[in-house]
Amino acid sequence: MTLNVTLNDGREMPLLGFGTWQIPDEEASGLVETAIGAGYRLIDTASIYRNENGVGAGIRAAGEGVWLTTKLWNDDQGTDRVRAAAERSLKRLGVEAVDLYLIHWPVSARDLYVETWQALIALGDAGLARSIGVSNFNEEHLDRLEAETGVIPAVNQIELHPAFQQRALCDYHARKGILTQSWSPLGQGSLLGDERLGRIAAKHGRTPAQIVIAWHLDQGFSVIPKSGNPERIRANYEALQVRLDDEDMAEIEAMDDPKGRIGPDPQVLS
Ligand code: A2P
Repeated sequence: MTLNVTLNDGREMPLLGFGTWQIPDEEASGLVETAIGAGYRLIDTASIYRNENGVGAGIRAAGEGVWLTTKLWNDDQGTDRVRAAAERSLKRLGVEAVDLYLIHWPVSARDLYVETWQALIALGDAGLARSIGVSNFNEEHLDRLEAETGVIPAVNQIELHPAFQQRALCDYHARKGILTQSWSPLGQGSLLGDERLGRIAAKHGRTPAQIVIAWHLDQGFSVIPKSGNPERIRANYEALQVRLDDEDMAEIEAMDDPKGRIGPDPQVLS
């Protein structure tokens, strides 16, 4: 299984990362160290997760060579606010630059995401973010970024799991050279009792979580499963060893449900 992907800006990013949503700041450092010890080379956080201090400490303790992603929160959109918000994140993380900086949500109702994107482009030019991208954008949002700035995001991080596969948006990403990165890739754990996944897991001698992570990777998606448990953090990384066959892939593909969204709909979040 491929470990890295080349983004549309030419930089190489690990595909499998450790997600830290809902990990409290005081636990983040230890769990990030555990994740890096297990092999993860990408750590995903966000300003709104309120754990950038702990995540940064964990990364610094574990040494160089770990890809760090964080995200700009909605209140910090707009030309005047982006740079200061990014600098606050960098300070909490204890780094001079992040590998990837994402606009967390488009928040269409405020209509600031295009100028915010322009400000992220400037952050990239200033060296504060090595790559830039977005999260929870749909085709219409992405079209506007391209039309009005000429710069296509390297990544769109979206809710994606077997029960909510977003195929049209993923096809759009593929056409535009945007990497799809899956958040809540395990459906926040809710999918793991599904009997179809159980059958595939038994067939491979793996866990359902490993099967689902392998399904994301097999499609070339970056995937950032979260766990607060060291055993599961390590086991999830072992998904890189799993080889699914066409029958497995087809069976998981059939789990798609247009109403399977768990998180907010970017179309209505404001
Ligand atoms: P825990 O933190 O107790 O391990 P997602 O990444 O889709 O948001 O899913 C995260 C949820 O899935 C968390 O509740 C996490 O619980 C659970 N989870 C993560 N890995 C596993 C696993 N290998 N087996 C069972 N549950 C898991």
